[in-house]
Amino acid sequence: METIPFNDLNQHHEPLRDEINIAIQSVIDASAYIRGPHVDQFEAAFCELTGRDHTVSCSDGTTALYIAMRALGAGPGDEVIVPGMSWISTSETVSQTGATVKFCDIKADTHVIDPASLEQAITPRTVGIIPVHLYGHPAPMRQIMKIAENHGLWVLEDTAQAHLAKIDGRMVGSFGSAATYSFYPGKNLGAMGDAGAITTDDPELARKMAMFARHGGLKKGDHQIEGINSRLDGMQAAILNVKLPHLPRWTKLRQQAAARYLDNLNGVNSVKLPAVSTDCEPVWHLFVVKTKNRDDLAAHLRDRGIQTIINYPRALPFLPCYSGQNNTPEDFPNSYELQNTCLSLPIFPEITDAQIATVVDALKSW
Ligand SMILES: Cc1ncc(COP(=O)(O)O)c(C=O)c1O
Repeated sequence: METIPFNDLNQHHEPLRDEINIAIQSVIDASAYIRGPHVDQFEAAFCELTGRDHTVSCSDGTTALYIAMRALGAGPGDEVIVPGMSWISTSETVSQTGATVKFCDIKADTHVIDPASLEQAITPRTVGIIPVHLYGHPAPMRQIMKIAENHGLWVLEDTAQAHLAKIDGRMVGSFGSAATYSFYPGKNLGAMGDAGAITTDDPELARKMAMFARHGGLKKGDHQIEGINSRLDGMQAAILNVKLPHLPRWTKLRQQAAARYLDNLNGVNSVKLPAVSTDCEPVWHLFVVKTKNRDDLAAHLRDRGIQTIINYPRALPFLPCYSGQNNTPEDFPNSYELQNTCLSLPIFPEITDAQIATVVDALKSW
């Protein structure tokens, strides 16, 4: 029986093996381990690809959120609004700044932040909003920006799962004050270790973020403020430089795979298929279906060699680390429903039509 993996990084990297080896060797030859020319090249290329003026590379997508929020001024006494479903990075970094995490619910269909719930969560202490382009589907940025403008709030787009996703042809990451990216190996653009970046069009914000990420100074020994150590290393940058030009093609392949799933599963009533807003072009970091009998479906697929994952088994408001907030399912009904029903099917650029057909048949036979 063929195993259909959830993702296959060996297959993903195989065609680039020689180029990646050469790139790694060039870092060693130049002893360019921390920042250096490979990092400069990556920052310039990422600006070009995303259309932003500034890219501040850093160690990972979690620290990217922390750096951006510190530069935006989040701190004790402030509240920052985060959607109920995301990876823990989106909320834990709010607390790390000293600010308080305030959750709002997600939309029932597209699973991104719900503007109505967001508006209800705003208090006089609210300073910012972190919309997450969850699973690669854009958050409703136009509505969010309107709300933010009305209340004088900053917006930081968590774009960890949504490199190159678009709303009406405009790339996500271009709406808020800044956008954070993860290059965790399994992301749509992944390094071979941890890596991340923040993009912005605001030169002063870019300067502050770069300074904070590099011990508070842009020149050695010149510490204008106390910062942290969060630098993209030369190896990861060199690998990302090899991979970056392929991202648009990989994105198209993900979109084609998702379209095939959606076409072939149309009319299958046992699972709810992911919805797409009419103005959005998702990039399908994950393909998430919903069913009340998730464990049974996962076992059925496992028996047929198909790997699945749950992203994520507990919505943020219900994690033990937030038990002090006494959140109830009634407060965040859509986040709660998603945590109990979501199941991510295999999706990656190299997934074949035959593999998708196998997954579709397995779903139909369930
Ligand atoms: C939505 C979201 N935000 C932030 C992160 C953090 O990225 P990293 O793993 O690079 O720290 C991730 C990735 O895991 C993510 O999925």
